[in-house]
Amino acid sequence: MTDFNSTSDLNGRYDIYGAVHKGLRKTQCELLPRLGSADFSIPQVALLTELRALLTLAASHVQHEDHHIHNALKARGAVSVERLDHQHDDHRKTFAELEAIISEIEKAPAAKRPALGRRLYLAFSAYVAHDLEHMFEEETVAAPQLWSLFTDAELAEIENRIVGSLPPEKSMAFMQIMIPASRPDERAAMLGGMKQHAPREAFDAVMEFAARPKLSAAEFADLVRRLDLVA
Ligand SMILES: [Fe+2]
Repeated sequence: MTDFNSTSDLNGRYDIYGAVHKGLRKTQCELLPRLGSADFSIPQVALLTELRALLTLAASHVQHEDHHIHNALKARGAVSVERLDHQHDDHRKTFAELEAIISEIEKAPAAKRPALGRRLYLAFSAYVAHDLEHMFEEETVAAPQLWSLFTDAELAEIENRIVGSLPPEKSMAFMQIMIPASRPDERAAMLGGMKQHAPREAFDAVMEFAARPKLSAAEFADLVRRLDLVA
Protein backbone atom coordinates (compact mmCIF):
# COMPACT_ATOMS: atom_id res chain seq x y z
CA MET A 1 0.00 0.00 0.00
CA THR A 2 1.39 3.37 -0.95
CA ASP A 3 2.20 5.78 1.86
CA PHE A 4 0.75 9.00 0.53
CA ASN A 5 2.08 11.11 3.41
CA SER A 6 5.75 10.26 3.28
CA THR A 7 6.17 10.22 -0.49
CA SER A 8 4.39 13.27 -1.77
CA ASP A 9 6.15 16.22 -0.11
CA LEU A 10 8.28 18.45 -2.31
CA ASN A 11 10.24 19.80 0.68
CA GLY A 12 11.09 22.86 -1.36
CA ARG A 13 12.96 20.85 -3.99
CA TYR A 14 12.90 21.38 -7.77
CA ASP A 15 9.71 19.90 -9.23
CA ILE A 16 10.83 18.63 -12.63
CA TYR A 17 7.66 16.57 -13.25
CA GLY A 18 4.99 18.84 -11.80
CA ALA A 19 3.86 21.19 -14.55
CA VAL A 20 3.98 18.78 -17.49
CA HIS A 21 2.28 15.99 -15.54
CA LYS A 22 -0.49 18.38 -14.44
CA GLY A 23 -0.97 19.32 -18.09
CA LEU A 24 -1.14 15.70 -19.24
CA ARG A 25 -3.52 14.71 -16.41
CA LYS A 26 -5.90 17.59 -17.14
CA THR A 27 -5.94 17.03 -20.90
CA GLN A 28 -6.29 13.26 -20.69
CA CYS A 29 -8.95 13.33 -17.98
CA GLU A 30 -11.00 15.87 -19.93
CA LEU A 31 -10.74 13.96 -23.20
CA LEU A 32 -11.88 10.66 -21.69
CA PRO A 33 -15.54 11.57 -20.96
CA ARG A 34 -15.76 13.38 -24.30
CA LEU A 35 -14.83 10.12 -26.03
CA GLY A 36 -17.47 8.38 -23.92
CA SER A 37 -20.25 10.77 -24.90
CA ALA A 38 -19.31 11.28 -28.56
CA ASP A 39 -21.72 10.06 -31.24
CA PHE A 40 -19.38 8.06 -33.47
CA SER A 41 -22.04 7.54 -36.11
CA ILE A 42 -20.85 10.98 -37.24
CA PRO A 43 -17.14 11.31 -38.11
CA GLN A 44 -15.88 13.22 -34.96
CA VAL A 45 -12.96 14.72 -36.88
CA ALA A 46 -12.21 17.48 -34.36
CA LEU A 47 -12.28 15.16 -31.35
CA LEU A 48 -9.99 12.61 -33.02
CA THR A 49 -7.62 15.40 -34.03
CA GLU A 50 -7.44 16.56 -30.41
CA LEU A 51 -6.84 13.01 -29.22
CA ARG A 52 -4.05 12.55 -31.76
CA ALA A 53 -2.45 15.83 -30.67
CA LEU A 54 -2.54 14.71 -27.05
CA LEU A 55 -1.03 11.32 -27.90
CA THR A 56 1.76 13.04 -29.84
CA LEU A 57 2.58 15.19 -26.81
CA ALA A 58 2.40 12.21 -24.45
CA ALA A 59 4.77 10.25 -26.72
CA SER A 60 7.22 13.17 -26.82
CA HIS A 61 7.05 13.49 -23.07
CA VAL A 62 7.92 9.81 -22.58
CA GLN A 63 10.84 10.22 -24.96
CA HIS A 64 12.11 13.32 -23.10
CA GLU A 65 11.99 11.48 -19.80
CA ASP A 66 13.84 8.47 -21.24
CA HIS A 67 16.50 10.53 -22.87
CA HIS A 68 17.06 13.31 -20.36
CA ILE A 69 15.90 11.97 -16.99
CA HIS A 70 16.31 8.18 -17.04
CA ASN A 71 19.73 8.37 -18.65
CA ALA A 72 20.82 10.94 -16.05
CA LEU A 73 19.51 8.71 -13.26
CA LYS A 74 21.28 5.66 -14.68
CA ALA A 75 24.52 7.59 -15.05
CA ARG A 76 24.44 8.26 -11.29
CA GLY A 77 23.60 4.69 -10.37
CA ALA A 78 19.92 5.11 -9.46
CA VAL A 79 17.86 2.01 -8.74
CA SER A 80 14.37 1.28 -10.17
CA VAL A 81 14.81 3.13 -13.48
CA GLU A 82 14.12 -0.13 -15.35
CA ARG A 83 10.59 -0.31 -13.99
CA LEU A 84 9.86 3.17 -15.34
CA ASP A 85 11.53 2.23 -18.64
CA HIS A 86 9.18 -0.75 -18.96
CA GLN A 87 6.17 1.44 -18.21
CA HIS A 88 7.32 3.78 -20.98
CA ASP A 89 7.64 0.81 -23.36
CA ASP A 90 4.07 -0.17 -22.48
CA HIS A 91 2.96 3.40 -23.16
CA ARG A 92 4.58 3.27 -26.61
CA LYS A 93 2.70 0.06 -27.43
CA THR A 94 -0.53 1.65 -26.26
CA PHE A 95 0.07 4.78 -28.37
CA ALA A 96 0.41 2.55 -31.46
CA GLU A 97 -2.75 0.61 -30.55
CA LEU A 98 -4.74 3.80 -29.99
CA GLU A 99 -3.52 5.23 -33.29
CA ALA A 100 -4.58 2.01 -35.05
CA ILE A 101 -8.12 2.31 -33.64
CA ILE A 102 -8.30 6.00 -34.62
CA SER A 103 -7.29 5.18 -38.21
CA GLU A 104 -9.80 2.34 -38.30
CA ILE A 105 -12.57 4.71 -37.20
CA GLU A 106 -11.57 7.18 -39.91
CA LYS A 107 -11.89 4.51 -42.59
CA ALA A 108 -14.94 2.69 -41.26
CA PRO A 109 -18.49 3.13 -42.59
CA ALA A 110 -20.91 4.95 -40.26
CA ALA A 111 -22.60 1.72 -39.11
CA LYS A 112 -19.32 0.29 -37.79
CA ARG A 113 -18.03 3.45 -36.10
CA PRO A 114 -20.00 3.33 -32.81
CA ALA A 115 -18.49 -0.06 -31.89
CA LEU A 116 -15.01 1.22 -32.77
CA GLY A 117 -15.71 4.39 -30.79
CA ARG A 118 -16.48 2.25 -27.75
CA ARG A 119 -13.25 0.31 -28.31
CA LEU A 120 -11.30 3.58 -28.47
CA TYR A 121 -13.00 4.91 -25.33
CA LEU A 122 -12.20 1.78 -23.33
CA ALA A 123 -8.61 1.55 -24.62
CA PHE A 124 -8.02 5.21 -23.81
CA SER A 125 -9.55 4.78 -20.35
CA ALA A 126 -7.08 1.97 -19.64
CA TYR A 127 -4.21 4.12 -20.90
CA VAL A 128 -5.25 7.05 -18.69
CA ALA A 129 -5.50 4.74 -15.67
CA HIS A 130 -2.01 3.33 -16.28
CA ASP A 131 -0.56 6.76 -16.95
CA LEU A 132 -2.03 8.26 -13.78
CA GLU A 133 -0.38 5.50 -11.74
CA HIS A 134 2.84 5.82 -13.69
CA MET A 135 3.09 9.58 -13.16
CA PHE A 136 2.30 9.08 -9.48
CA GLU A 137 5.23 6.68 -9.27
CA GLU A 138 7.51 9.16 -11.03
CA GLU A 139 6.56 11.97 -8.67
CA THR A 140 6.85 9.87 -5.51
CA VAL A 141 9.60 7.33 -6.30
CA ALA A 142 11.71 8.78 -9.12
CA ALA A 143 11.59 12.38 -7.89
CA PRO A 144 13.10 11.58 -4.45
CA GLN A 145 15.86 9.68 -6.26
CA LEU A 146 16.50 12.71 -8.44
CA TRP A 147 16.65 14.91 -5.33
CA SER A 148 19.14 12.61 -3.66
CA LEU A 149 21.42 12.42 -6.70
CA PHE A 150 21.15 15.91 -8.23
CA THR A 151 21.16 19.49 -6.99
CA ASP A 152 18.23 21.73 -7.88
CA ALA A 153 20.51 23.60 -10.29
CA GLU A 154 21.34 20.33 -12.06
CA LEU A 155 17.64 19.42 -12.27
CA ALA A 156 16.86 22.85 -13.72
CA GLU A 157 19.61 22.23 -16.27
CA ILE A 158 18.03 18.89 -17.24
CA GLU A 159 14.67 20.60 -17.68
CA ASN A 160 16.28 23.39 -19.72
CA ARG A 161 17.82 20.77 -22.01
CA ILE A 162 14.36 19.23 -22.56
CA VAL A 163 12.76 22.64 -23.24
CA GLY A 164 15.67 23.64 -25.50
CA SER A 165 15.28 20.47 -27.58
CA LEU A 166 11.68 21.29 -28.56
CA PRO A 167 10.70 22.85 -31.88
CA PRO A 168 8.61 26.03 -31.32
CA GLU A 169 5.25 24.46 -32.24
CA LYS A 170 5.72 21.60 -29.81
CA SER A 171 6.89 23.94 -27.11
CA MET A 172 3.69 25.97 -27.65
CA ALA A 173 1.56 22.81 -27.51
CA PHE A 174 3.09 21.88 -24.14
CA MET A 175 2.51 25.41 -22.83
CA GLN A 176 -1.13 25.16 -23.93
CA ILE A 177 -1.68 22.12 -21.74
CA MET A 178 0.53 23.17 -18.80
CA ILE A 179 -0.61 26.77 -18.25
CA PRO A 180 -4.31 26.07 -17.59
CA ALA A 181 -3.42 23.03 -15.45
CA SER A 182 -1.10 24.97 -13.12
CA ARG A 183 -1.94 26.93 -9.97
CA PRO A 184 -1.96 30.74 -10.39
CA ASP A 185 1.37 31.09 -8.55
CA GLU A 186 2.94 28.25 -10.54
CA ARG A 187 1.90 29.66 -13.90
CA ALA A 188 3.14 33.13 -12.89
CA ALA A 189 6.51 31.60 -11.89
CA MET A 190 6.71 29.66 -15.16
CA LEU A 191 5.80 32.65 -17.33
CA GLY A 192 7.86 35.00 -15.15
CA GLY A 193 10.96 32.89 -15.82
CA MET A 194 10.20 32.98 -19.51
CA LYS A 195 9.68 36.73 -19.44
CA GLN A 196 13.12 37.15 -17.88
CA HIS A 197 15.11 34.65 -19.91
CA ALA A 198 13.40 33.97 -23.25
CA PRO A 199 13.35 36.31 -26.25
CA ARG A 200 10.51 38.83 -25.94
CA GLU A 201 8.71 37.50 -29.08
CA ALA A 202 8.69 33.97 -27.65
CA PHE A 203 7.23 35.20 -24.36
CA ASP A 204 4.61 37.33 -26.14
CA ALA A 205 3.65 34.38 -28.35
CA VAL A 206 3.10 32.12 -25.33
CA MET A 207 0.95 34.80 -23.66
CA GLU A 208 -1.15 35.26 -26.80
CA PHE A 209 -1.42 31.70 -28.12
CA ALA A 210 -1.20 29.57 -24.96
CA ALA A 211 -2.18 31.64 -21.90
CA ARG A 212 -4.93 33.90 -23.29
CA PRO A 213 -6.93 31.23 -25.19
CA LYS A 214 -6.56 28.54 -22.52
CA LEU A 215 -7.35 30.61 -19.41
CA SER A 216 -10.60 32.27 -18.38
CA ALA A 217 -10.65 36.08 -18.59
CA ALA A 218 -10.23 36.27 -14.80
CA GLU A 219 -7.34 33.80 -14.76
CA PHE A 220 -5.59 35.65 -17.57
CA ALA A 221 -6.06 39.00 -15.81
CA ASP A 222 -4.63 37.46 -12.63
CA LEU A 223 -1.61 36.19 -14.56
CA VAL A 224 -1.02 39.58 -16.15
CA ARG A 225 -1.25 41.26 -12.75
CA ARG A 226 1.21 38.78 -11.26
CA LEU A 227 3.58 39.32 -14.19
CA ASP A 228 3.17 43.05 -13.84
CA LEU A 229 2.14 43.50 -17.45
CA VAL A 230 -0.32 45.77 -19.12
CA ALA A 231 -3.23 43.72 -20.55
FE1 LIG B 1 7.08 8.96 -17.45
